[in-house]
Amino acid sequence: MLGEAPHPRHSYLTRLTLSMSHSALPRPAIARRSKALSGDIRIPGDKSISHRSFMFGGLAAGETRITGLLEGEDVINTGRAMQAMGAKITKEGDVWVIQGTGNGCLLQPEAPLDFGNAGTGARLTMGLVGTYDMETTFIGDASLSKRPMGRVLNPLREMGVQVTASEGDRMPLTLRGPKVAAPITYRVPMASAQVKSAVLLAGLNTPGITTVIEPVMTRDHTEKMLQGFGANLSVETDRDNVRHIRIEGQGKLTGQTIDVPGDPSSTAFPLVAALLVPGSDITIRNVLMNPTRTGLILTLQEMGANIEILNARLAGGEDVADLRVRASELKGVNVPAERAPSMIDEYPVLAVAACLASGETVMNGLEELRVKESDRLSAVANGLKANGVDCTEGPESLSVRGRPDGKGIGGGTVETHLDHRIAMSFLVMGLAAEKPVSVDDSTMIATSFPEFMDMMTGMGAKITEHNAAD
Ligand code: S3P
Repeated sequence: MLGEAPHPRHSYLTRLTLSMSHSALPRPAIARRSKALSGDIRIPGDKSISHRSFMFGGLAAGETRITGLLEGEDVINTGRAMQAMGAKITKEGDVWVIQGTGNGCLLQPEAPLDFGNAGTGARLTMGLVGTYDMETTFIGDASLSKRPMGRVLNPLREMGVQVTASEGDRMPLTLRGPKVAAPITYRVPMASAQVKSAVLLAGLNTPGITTVIEPVMTRDHTEKMLQGFGANLSVETDRDNVRHIRIEGQGKLTGQTIDVPGDPSSTAFPLVAALLVPGSDITIRNVLMNPTRTGLILTLQEMGANIEILNARLAGGEDVADLRVRASELKGVNVPAERAPSMIDEYPVLAVAACLASGETVMNGLEELRVKESDRLSAVANGLKANGVDCTEGPESLSVRGRPDGKGIGGGTVETHLDHRIAMSFLVMGLAAEKPVSVDDSTMIATSFPEFMDMMTGMGAKITEHNAAD
């Protein structure tokens, strides 16, 4: 099927998925020491906001128009899921146009919903549809099928949802909602925006008030965007800095116009590359600067990074800025555990920055890294060791002892375990290391950042892909 001309009956989203869907065959890639990077780039839309734009637009009554959407595989799968449940999604030029079903009016999908590699798409959608009196089946790729879903299924069970799951509360799984769901008060046991969001979305189709108690603040896109769509949602922060988020169910959501800002998690790769490759000077436009997402920039600045924040502005209710990044001599730091939620997806590339910094960088509070697209803590530590980097992996921590000149670093092949951020991080490493760095697969980069290769090579990065058989 893949590679064939798409059938004319396929919808725009289906055609896009067919043409983008990463091949079953791995495509290794290699990055080599590069000359100064230069360029003025615009990073694709934020993944978290893009998923939510499709979901909330698909649910809200009337029309939602989205510009700047990330057209990565993960987000397209969410769009297809919403389409399978009754939303109408088309594209007019650069604008995605959605006719939503209206809150409470999603339809039972005819086939299992396939979320590919995407934890956010799967977990948030479980919340969104779990409380419907219908049956929905969730499937995904080998990485997603290994990830724990109990963190979302447990609060849904409390609301009356019946779950049939694979061993260990994993996918494939099927949800069957009750006739009428019960509102709950739920204290999120780990720092997870996905769990918080799943419960709030389940509350949308539940009578009364559903409350989420969030002891450690995580990205707040669900709260902000639901308010923008007209949900009756309030947030109160108590004396102990614990957030109480209340949502009233069965209210009306109305379609909105959304301009998705650039993804700070994708920004991290060219940003760290420019810091590490001597002589580099790049500008990255329109980056989301929501404070729940800027932990990496703060940490790199503490390490001595030359990152200028230009044109700081508000766009669609979010902080946005342009970043000018120049090559810098970095020094190791201690990254406090409390900062982890604001940079949770950025530790792999921070570890790469740390191995080219002077001294030691110590990262704590990393327990959530074990349940990402791969066990990112061990994937990073193994990748560093395969490339001659002196590091120590603890149960929830990573320490890296750097070599600012890159001497002795590189020469290894990194196992990516279907994890896009592992692949991109180690390709960045190869641009500054003494010896080339290889990754065993790069196809899954298309889940979050399809433009990565072109954008990086366009700035002068020496990265080449090849077929597994080459
Ligand atoms: C996300 C939340 C985070 C993050 C993921 C996107 C979201 O996951 O790692 O890439 O959009 O809500 P957790 O909530 O599991 O920490």
